[in-house]
Amino acid sequence: MSKPRQLHLGAFMRPISIHTGAWRYPGADPSANFNFPLIKQLIQTLERGKFDAFFMADHLAVLNMPVEALKRSHTVTSFEPFTLLSALAGVTEHIGLMATASTTYDEPFHIARRFASLDHISGGRAGWNIVTTGNPESAWNFGQEDHMEHDERYRRAREFYDVVTGLWDSWADDAFTRDVASGTFFDPEKLHVLNHKGKYLSVRGPLNIARPIQGWPVMVQAGASDAGRQLAAETAEMVFAAGGPIEDARAFYADVKGRAAKIGRNPDHLKILPGAFTIVGDSLEEAQEKRLKLDSLVNWDSGIAALSIAVGVDARQFDPDGPLPEIPETNQSKSGRERVVSLAKRENLTVRQLAGRLGGYGGLAMMGTPKMIADQMEEWLVTEASDGFNVMFPYLPGGLDDFVNKVVPELQRRGLFRTEYEGKTLRENLGLPRPENRFFAATAKAAE
Ligand SMILES: Cc1cc2nc3c(=O)[nH]c(=O)nc-3n(C[C@H](O)[C@H](O)[C@H](O)COP(=O)(O)O)c2cc1C
Repeated sequence: MSKPRQLHLGAFMRPISIHTGAWRYPGADPSANFNFPLIKQLIQTLERGKFDAFFMADHLAVLNMPVEALKRSHTVTSFEPFTLLSALAGVTEHIGLMATASTTYDEPFHIARRFASLDHISGGRAGWNIVTTGNPESAWNFGQEDHMEHDERYRRAREFYDVVTGLWDSWADDAFTRDVASGTFFDPEKLHVLNHKGKYLSVRGPLNIARPIQGWPVMVQAGASDAGRQLAAETAEMVFAAGGPIEDARAFYADVKGRAAKIGRNPDHLKILPGAFTIVGDSLEEAQEKRLKLDSLVNWDSGIAALSIAVGVDARQFDPDGPLPEIPETNQSKSGRERVVSLAKRENLTVRQLAGRLGGYGGLAMMGTPKMIADQMEEWLVTEASDGFNVMFPYLPGGLDDFVNKVVPELQRRGLFRTEYEGKTLRENLGLPRPENRFFAATAKAAE
């Protein structure tokens, strides 16, 4: 019998927990985003749990919101991803190191060089989450008045991708002969000068670092719009999806893989990983209690604002400790309102609890015993809603330890998740091919 399809697990680690109440949870370290010894311990635990990758999202501005709301959030500040991942490369051996970098506010030469360096330093474990940057206030940190228009950002991103991958291919894998006897360090025949001049970018090259160990670091995308999906289908090897109802996820999965197949790509070489917020308990009730506790730590003003947006009316008029009243139809998103109403009914939540839920983390959540969480992950995998998950932890270190110590062994027992890393590089662990060098096809693999 052939092995069942395997799950791939990434850990979403910036902020260290996406839940806005996480830093106040009993036993959690409120300074975790800046506690390097703790982050080192967390990544080593993830590696013991055979996680594919540790992922640092990134934003280029503090959110432009009133300071009264902002002051409640542990998610506004964090380490710069490359500095942190370079340090973590030295204390780990197998786990992938993924970072977001922006095609709107960075230069392809810088990005190509940084990821190539991280790939060499880590022995072939780097991955780049290509984003066009959503938050418009980033513009003000880069000498610009306005954020570039959405589809324009994606057109620039497409050209940016060609330039960065072209720069990584500057050198054949065997360009550096380092022949001490003759005194020749590299073979000039194996050097390609890009000379790119396009609509948005002008880059001569070559890159001043050898081709990455993986050829190219693993290419990740997180766009959801039509332009985002298309760029993912053309260029991504992993997609971070937002997560949501399983039917929507299946449709997204089929759409993006279908687009990839249509342009001649192997859909298996594009892994789709939705974000999944996980809370482990010894029983469903215990997991739900942990969630209620966590949600209760969300500031009331942030929670009620999130609820008001979701239902399309000012929720401050409701009794906080009563059930959600009937809400009239509005012009706002219908599906969003219905989701909230059915959530409140299903879990019998008061207005206050509902506000905490939406203000904390409103996305896909898997709660319960390790077996229940494994059941859900298995369903998503076998019904082609995903190839794995980008796991989000409720509080640190406890929530992460529970996942690694309890859920991972259950997934392994079912044969759905590795017990040993398959290879040395992130690509090998993900089952992704090493890209050919477009200028030096079929050259030898880099000397070991
Ligand atoms: C799991 C996940 C991680 C993301 N990480 C980042 C990030 O680190 N930085 C960023 O600017 N945007 C990030 N985004 C936002 C996306 O890049 C994208 O802007 C968003 O999904 C909207 O899609 P669109 O730009 O195609 O409309 C992330 C989205 C998801 C779902």
